[in-house]
Amino acid sequence: MTDMMKAVRLHEFGGPDVLRYEDAPRPEISADDVLVRVHAASLNPPDLYLRDGYRVLPPEWHPSPRFPLILGTDVSGEISAVGENVTQFKVGDEVYAMVRFPHDLMTGSNAYAEYVRVPTSDLALKPSGVDHIQAAGAPMSLLTAWQFLVDLGHDEPNPFQIFAHAPEPLDGKTVLVNGAGGGVGHLAVQIAKWQGAKVIAVASSKHEALLNDLGADIILDYTKAAAETVAKDVDLVLDAVGGAGMERFLPCIRQHGALFLVNPLGFSGHHEAARRKITVSTTQVRSNGAQLAEAGRLLDNGSVRVVIDSTYPLAQASAAHRRASEGSIQGKIVLDVA
Ligand SMILES: NC(=O)c1ccc[n+]([C@@H]2O[C@H](COP(=O)([O-])OP(=O)(O)OC[C@H]3O[C@@H](n4cnc5c(N)ncnc54)[C@H](OP(=O)(O)O)[C@@H]3O)[C@@H](O)[C@H]2O)c1
Repeated sequence: MTDMMKAVRLHEFGGPDVLRYEDAPRPEISADDVLVRVHAASLNPPDLYLRDGYRVLPPEWHPSPRFPLILGTDVSGEISAVGENVTQFKVGDEVYAMVRFPHDLMTGSNAYAEYVRVPTSDLALKPSGVDHIQAAGAPMSLLTAWQFLVDLGHDEPNPFQIFAHAPEPLDGKTVLVNGAGGGVGHLAVQIAKWQGAKVIAVASSKHEALLNDLGADIILDYTKAAAETVAKDVDLVLDAVGGAGMERFLPCIRQHGALFLVNPLGFSGHHEAARRKITVSTTQVRSNGAQLAEAGRLLDNGSVRVVIDSTYPLAQASAAHRRASEGSIQGKIVLDVA
């Protein structure tokens, strides 16, 4: 008989209420995988997009997966079994991962569950200085900030542009982070500071105290004044919000500076950027255990902190998704699976 576990599954696309806490078969692993007993799993925007059937995309790109499916990419937990080829990890190791992304973008990576199958290439030892809730909050947001700002870490084709994204040295530069209180934004602020940049953080006022604490040099409340009319001669803008009007940042960037778009869909400023000699670049985050091990050292020694917006028991994943839909997230929303 198949071993069972608790998981949050969906049997149809829709709003937060389609998430059902129920029994599901425990995943089986192959030779290069480990089975992780999940202690915590965090929410990321792709979880909400997939729950909703990627309605934001044109109909021909809508997924048609086999239901039921299990959302979630980011986990922290403990290894409960290893495949026969696995030598670098052992049963009992505490680990964290962003699981099979973007490989399983349209089917779900199965993290909202008591057990998840993780390829060792996606896996790193959990930084011992943080607990499972914080570690689960890190992977996708941390890897996104890392791959945009520090090291791309792979040579896979870029789905958004014909050239590879290339991070730039930030020491002594002025970096503006838009969406600085969010999952990607709050980690990008800290990574840019760690690299020696002066950081302008753009966020609503509710995040001001936090961003001061995280070392932002200047904080601009976009609800009071448009940041791009206040900031001048910025070397790099990292827009961790997306949506309409991303090109408005171009005038506050100096010539030969750069605009990095974490969510590039809808950007229409390529001509103006070329005229102003500004590089516009984006990339899609990819699972990478080696980078999680490297960036994890910053979590371990406290140079980078994962901020938790809220935690919910796994059984209340619907409530967690409702919180995410309200927006104005500060750091990460995490499901407690322990
Ligand atoms: N390229 C990739 O591979 C990749 C990877 C991860 C995420 N993403 C994308 O990046 C975006 C951010 O992801 P996330 O996980 O960081 O989301 P998140 O945690 O929801 O953070 C978004 C933040 O943006 C702020 N915000 C909303 N409207 C704003 C505005 N008009 N101006 C300035 N700030 C605003 C929000 O707070 P306040 O309004 O309170 O300031 C919130 O803190 C999403 O669109 C996601 O899909 C892309």
